[in-house]
Amino acid sequence: MNGTAKTTLPVDGMSCSACAAKIEKALRNTPGVIAARASLSAGRASVEYDSRRVGLPQLAEVVQSLGYQVVEDRHDAPAPAAAAERDDVDRANRTVHDRYNRVARFYDFEQSIGMGLFFRRLRRELWERAPQRGRILEIGVGTGINMKHYPEFAEMTAVDISERMLARATKRAEKLGRRVDLRQMDAQELGFPDGTFDAVLATCVFCSVPDPVQGLREAWRVLRPGGRLLLLDHVRSDNPVLGKLMDWFNPIVVRMEGANINRRTEENVRAAGIAPIEVSRHWLGLVRVIEATKP
Ligand SMILES: C[S@@+](CC[C@H](N)C(=O)[O-])C[C@H]1O[C@@H](n2cnc3c(N)ncnc32)[C@H](O)[C@@H]1O
Repeated sequence: MNGTAKTTLPVDGMSCSACAAKIEKALRNTPGVIAARASLSAGRASVEYDSRRVGLPQLAEVVQSLGYQVVEDRHDAPAPAAAAERDDVDRANRTVHDRYNRVARFYDFEQSIGMGLFFRRLRRELWERAPQRGRILEIGVGTGINMKHYPEFAEMTAVDISERMLARATKRAEKLGRRVDLRQMDAQELGFPDGTFDAVLATCVFCSVPDPVQGLREAWRVLRPGGRLLLLDHVRSDNPVLGKLMDWFNPIVVRMEGANINRRTEENVRAAGIAPIEVSRHWLGLVRVIEATKP
């Protein structure tokens, strides 16, 4: 007799893709479980299991033993199409998270050569435009390369999806003697109320965030009226030939580095409803500094 069964556990308490990965791993390691997938955005874990070897209470226990709650089924279960879309986002987030965890060790070295050198001046100049006081959020802090430019009297918060990048950022903050509230968080789902920050900055981040328009909407949302958004990023060339070349090479670069080289970040900023914006172009327009003040 075949005892294969499937269930979906509504899970509360997941705050980042690492939580989903942890739940998935624990479920997969449970004897009798055939397959498991946890979705951060849907707040669910889907499990295929052998009901002769393991039951629902044990599966719920596995999740609860990690500190999450398995709740009574919610009434807001997503429609199948929406659930599939969310699964895609989760998968994309997981890929980005894993890639940056992998490159964390080499990231500072990479930034100390080649393009990284060119970005040094632009980073410094970007941070010089940030307010000198108040609450500032850095999105996609990475290993904390920008920390040396943080305004001395600002109250700094910085987020990233990769815990290995954050571990390096934590060490850097300690070394610099900077107090920074570092949190593992998805830029597409910022856990801050509307209007929390006086400024939001990001350098070379929206080339990696799976849904950049959603990430930019979030950056704008957490900014207070009158607050400044300051972005520095490399973008797809406007030159048709170079642009096409960037499209071709993009899959290889993403795999190796984690960042897309063909993002149209300026267009994405507009698509996120951010206006008015000021753009300055560098390196034949391949690098752009985008600024906006929230009305
Ligand atoms: C190219 S690195 C840039 C790091 C840093 N801003 C810098 O300029 O050196 C991109 C960073 O964005 C982070 N990231 C990518 N997608 C993210 C997301 N959805 N939420 C938060 N951080 C994300 C990556 O983990 C990585 O640390």
